[in-house]
Amino acid sequence: MNPALATLALAYREHGDPAARALFLGAEPHPDLLRATAWQPLKPLADLCAAAGMALTDGPQGKFATVLFLPGKSKEETLAGFARAHDFLAPGGMLIAALANTAGAARFEKELAKASPLLLSVSKNKCRAFAVENTQPWDDAALTAWRRLSEPRLIPDTTFTVVPGVFSADHTDPGSALLAEHLPASLRGEVADLGAGWGFLSHAALAKCPNISRIDLFEADSRALACARKNVTGPAEFHWHDVTTGLPGKYDHILTNPPFHTGQARDIGLGHAFLTTAARSLKRGGSLHLVANRQLPYEAHLVSLGLRPRLLAETGGFKVITAA
Ligand SMILES: C[S@@+](CC[C@H](N)C(=O)[O-])C[C@H]1O[C@@H](n2cnc3c(N)ncnc32)[C@H](O)[C@@H]1O
Repeated sequence: MNPALATLALAYREHGDPAARALFLGAEPHPDLLRATAWQPLKPLADLCAAAGMALTDGPQGKFATVLFLPGKSKEETLAGFARAHDFLAPGGMLIAALANTAGAARFEKELAKASPLLLSVSKNKCRAFAVENTQPWDDAALTAWRRLSEPRLIPDTTFTVVPGVFSADHTDPGSALLAEHLPASLRGEVADLGAGWGFLSHAALAKCPNISRIDLFEADSRALACARKNVTGPAEFHWHDVTTGLPGKYDHILTNPPFHTGQARDIGLGHAFLTTAARSLKRGGSLHLVANRQLPYEAHLVSLGLRPRLLAETGGFKVITAA
């Protein structure tokens, strides 16, 4: 179990009111937190919440006596999340947040204390849970600054819209740029983009390959997918989807810059699962086009899946591979 989740549940058990209406931002299933309304933008975690019987929402409504918050990886996302949590708190309500110490728990506890006096702090499992109340007005300047962080913005010198917390939220990923450069203009028919993020690769493919009839973007992060809807125009469809569960169709070509982290931890198995899904979802004669960090051992996995990998480019720490 995610240790920050265990620490959050501990603080809630000891200091929260289990009968009070609760909202869980960044929800993950825990036996003590199943009654909370769950908001979770990452599909694999949202699926786990649903399987555990939690009520999921993609747009929480109203005010809650308790708001629980498990932040993601980015600083901006965490601070914006504090402001968002505040806006859902009923008068007198309590916000409890938890983070791993290595994710900056002490630093974020101090940040939150700038807005409202700290009510409690619990250290356990190399994590920290901390809470504030909504009994007096929070610091307005802090709230305003944090709210601003959540606003959609453009990647500098581009027309691409992003929000904090999504992959590559302040620049175009250099690996994906390398793959885009090496995409053959002859790609045609139905194409899938696995782990499409905010849409960079799909946008590049549609711009370069006039014979693509449709591109399906599969992405686990609903916030990134919402940006992709703005960034990718043309024959594109958008799917909030866990790629490791397979795809609903078969494709002439598949593009991917596979993820290899789950939360903070390196997870090569996730990259392998993407390639397995890709191999199963190619039409006969189709091709896979991928970019990866140079040291990632994907070639042997592609061969084990019956594909024939070919190195197209290797530069700046990345390699571009095509596999028929
Ligand atoms: C390396 S990024 C590439 C993003 C995008 N293609 C680009 O070039 O900017 C990998 C993407 O895979 C997404 N992802 C991670 N796990 C996933 C899963 N199980 N199913 C679908 N997408 C996933 C991440 O949210 C991230 O956007």
